[in-house]
Amino acid sequence: MKILKTPKEAQEYRNSLKGNIGFVPTMGALHEGHLSLIKKAREENDYVIVSIFVNPTQFLPGEDLDKYPRKLQADFEICKRAGVDAVFTPNAKNMYSDDEILIKAPKIKGYILEGFFRPGHFDGVLQVVNKLFNIIKPTKAYFGKKDAQQLYLINQMVKNFFFDIEIIPVDTVREKDGLALSSRNVYLSTEERKRALSISKALKRAAKLSSKTDNIEEIKKEMEKILDVDKLQYIAFVDRDFNYINKIIPGNTIILIAAYIGSTRLIDNIWI
Ligand code: PAF
Repeated sequence: MKILKTPKEAQEYRNSLKGNIGFVPTMGALHEGHLSLIKKAREENDYVIVSIFVNPTQFLPGEDLDKYPRKLQADFEICKRAGVDAVFTPNAKNMYSDDEILIKAPKIKGYILEGFFRPGHFDGVLQVVNKLFNIIKPTKAYFGKKDAQQLYLINQMVKNFFFDIEIIPVDTVREKDGLALSSRNVYLSTEERKRALSISKALKRAAKLSSKTDNIEEIKKEMEKILDVDKLQYIAFVDRDFNYINKIIPGNTIILIAAYIGSTRLIDNIWI
């Protein structure tokens, strides 16, 4: 497995390849969720490239950039075992320059929900994914449905900037008890982890209820009864294009939650 440290090395490697390239962009601290993206990429492509880069521009001041889990050697092992051809691990210095041309997330859909509570977060995500796409020039790129709004915005960027890349959404991987896998779960104490489960339980209940009623207020009330979080930021109902909806549309609804458990911010969602 090749380790590529600079954009130049990655571009040279990429340009030496002939065939389909599956790309899995990550911030490292790889878990089963990432592995499911890598496995799908492995099945569908001649080559698989994973990037590991804790992108500073998508963290707001005061967020967990410094303490974000970094496990590079373990990540390399996981990638090697999963049959990855190359891992691209640039640093901020060779990815960014001063006074850059900036990508802006769309004014509405980049600034509601996650974008409201983390203003500018998606500008940073799109900035780095744009660079990564230009460096790797993948055939297909794999993103988890857990970051549903990110997935939507990346699809929009691909359309708006005419990238010739197919975006493949991959289902959220959960622990046996339902907790959605996230690199941030390591921050949870045993007691907090128990309460974090109320998020996936509330979503599961919402999915069940939505087969009986399309009344969002009714469903939301039931979800609030189940949630045992320290600060609920939002329960939201949107369609697949991130338009707010006022009743459940079967086959075109995403129910999303963002909440703090202690000082850990968690997001999760369910697609109806
Ligand atoms: O989802 C993530 O891990 C990140 O937002 C991404 C897409 C790798 C960009 O830094």
